[in-house]
Amino acid sequence: MCTSSQRHLRHRDVLVRLTKRRSEIRTFSTGLVKCKESEHEDSDSSGLSAELTSRQAPPARRSRPLSPLERISGLLPRDALSPEVMQLREQNQQEAEEDANVQESFAQSTQEQSGHPETPAGTEATPKEDESDNDHSSDATTEPSTSERLIPATLPGESLLVPGELLVAELYKKGRMEYRKMFNLQTGTRLHSSWGFIPHDDIAGQPAGQFLKTSLGAPVLIRRASLEDYVLYMKRGPAIAYPKDAARMLMMMDVTEGDRVLESGSGSGAMSLFLSRAVGSKGSVLSLEVREDHHRRATLNYKRWRTSWNLRRGEEWPDNVQFHKADLCTASSLLAGQGFHSVALDLINPHLVLTTVIPHLHPGAVCAVYLANITQVIDLLEGLRCLPLPLLCEHIIEVPVRHWLVAPALQKNRQYCTRKDPVLEEDGGEEETTADETDKDLTTDEQPAFGSIPYIARPHPEQLGHTAFLVKLRKCFQ
Ligand SMILES: C[S@@+](CC[C@H](N)C(=O)[O-])C[C@H]1O[C@@H](n2cnc3c(N)ncnc32)[C@H](O)[C@@H]1O
Repeated sequence: MCTSSQRHLRHRDVLVRLTKRRSEIRTFSTGLVKCKESEHEDSDSSGLSAELTSRQAPPARRSRPLSPLERISGLLPRDALSPEVMQLREQNQQEAEEDANVQESFAQSTQEQSGHPETPAGTEATPKEDESDNDHSSDATTEPSTSERLIPATLPGESLLVPGELLVAELYKKGRMEYRKMFNLQTGTRLHSSWGFIPHDDIAGQPAGQFLKTSLGAPVLIRRASLEDYVLYMKRGPAIAYPKDAARMLMMMDVTEGDRVLESGSGSGAMSLFLSRAVGSKGSVLSLEVREDHHRRATLNYKRWRTSWNLRRGEEWPDNVQFHKADLCTASSLLAGQGFHSVALDLINPHLVLTTVIPHLHPGAVCAVYLANITQVIDLLEGLRCLPLPLLCEHIIEVPVRHWLVAPALQKNRQYCTRKDPVLEEDGGEEETTADETDKDLTTDEQPAFGSIPYIARPHPEQLGHTAFLVKLRKCFQ
């Protein structure tokens, strides 16, 4: 029987071997072949090796290079594998037997999961050959794998794209996003860009997440707008609560499905939408806004998102936000008799509304405040010092998000750079052979092997600057 410490030692040994092999792969792009050969030689050298070999996946077909996952999972013992990798391995073994049944089950699962039995078979999300500019998977065979074939064209519960939906178009050039636009899919119109146009009629009926070619041949990714995309691209009145900050506020407030939440001001309605999603159909949000135009803007933005959602899912987004045009400072009568699980404030002078709001916050609950300037934070703390309110300031934070550029290093001619190995005097002969092999590899059409090319990795030159300070106030009693 294998004890856990024995198993631990065995895993450690395997990882050491794996690391060693990986460094071989890193050093020589043709290292994979060498590894396989040496693996064969090693196999008789110890009982451990023999055991490992018997536990490895059956030899993969040599008609295509192994994917990094297959290569690594093939080196690990069975009990070190995650359920997903185990499943993948078993699927490969059964591939031959399953082939006959796959087409049938795929057609069936597409119908069931999309909820659109009328979906024509030709509308599956199989990437077209001429759309493979961005697809660098050297492991792709002409035949899709079993698992790929089992994936339906749409997300469970979603349909193919229909007019009225909110979509995002994105164009990537040399790994950088050059163009992004949110638009409403409408029959008879075109999506225009400097890279040509795509008729909306060509987009309708397609699955989301597909590259479509413009009139000038540029591949544009067409996908559904997430709620984050929507709030960033929707028409604004005042500045919105940025998604990164809104997400943090939801955590601070510990918003849960079924909660009743108070929010002010409604502004453009971004925070209202995030709250609406968080409280769900069993919860509700009361959103107050003093300005008529902002109140209208927030209501419209909310309505627009719900309409698009209904088309996308075929079911209603919960109608759980009550927008009111009112000044929170004088809204006592509106709040009378109501209790809230949490409060989100995003208005210019929050300390002026606390006396109205806090009596309606449940004891122990949180009021999260979004403030653009540090001077506003000071005003708020000064207000707390002077007002007889049962509030504890738990913390004041900023939410930094740092984007990074991580990409394979390319030469001017768009070829991958190569790792340069130090040439050691004593084994110079061997090194020469390796360098030749590396060059040969990179001049072919094949993708360089896993780990054989250098990367650049540095903070992105364009960063989102300061957005807000978030203050967490908790209602508590002495
Ligand atoms: C920065 S915006 C809020 C943005 C909103 N959180 C969003 O994500 O779209 C601030 C809003 O608070 C409103 N406001 C300011 N004082 C208010 C008050 N006393 N009562 C209600 N709304 C108020 C302003 O008119 C403005 O629309």
